[in-house]
Amino acid sequence: MKKGYFITLEGPDGGGKSTQIELTTRFLQEKGYDVVCTREPGGTLSAEKIRAIVLDPDTPIYSLTETLLYLAARAEHIQGLIAPALEQGKVVICDRYSDSTLVYQGLVRGLGLEKVKALNDLVVDGLTPDLTILLDAEPNRLLLRRDTRGVTDRFENEGLAFQEKVRDGFVTLAKLEPERIKVVDALQGQAEVQEVIQKLVLELFK
Ligand code: TMP
Repeated sequence: MKKGYFITLEGPDGGGKSTQIELTTRFLQEKGYDVVCTREPGGTLSAEKIRAIVLDPDTPIYSLTETLLYLAARAEHIQGLIAPALEQGKVVICDRYSDSTLVYQGLVRGLGLEKVKALNDLVVDGLTPDLTILLDAEPNRLLLRRDTRGVTDRFENEGLAFQEKVRDGFVTLAKLEPERIKVVDALQGQAEVQEVIQKLVLELFK
């Protein structure tokens, strides 16, 4: 039986998830919470191995295979880390989870939301986040912000049209589940974003 809290962060690449996860973890640890910080795909030895395959640009895979690999990694992650930590009453903060699969594989890669949702439901078996923070921003504005920092990575390689579809996908999901998915403007300063996240998390713990 789940006793802890399950919080996920989602959004397009380059929205500052990692920094916000670090800051949120520190904030909660200072308040005395036992926090487990993890990511998808990944989080356990086997899931990290799947991550290496699925994110390798030199290993082309079909969209269905890609979806199944993300879900296989999730199955390992849930059983090996997330569910046990929640049972022990910990706060689990996860960088991406089901919503990423629904957006990237379901809506952007074109397998279809319903089909991917059905597959994902089998894997997660009801383990839905208590709170999902969507770090949202227009991709072209994120890109400008990254350009000024001289960062070049997959974000730029995938192209703006791809990132716009990703953004639209997340916004669509947030509208479907406004109670769980809270949209936070990622273009605010780091401290402002963190302040909003802290309020949402404390609200959840009330
Ligand atoms: P990240 O660790 O930089 O967020 O990268 C993970 C990448 O994997 C990101 O581009 C989104 C993608 N992804 C999916 O396509 N489907 C998924 O289910 C998950 C968890 C991630």
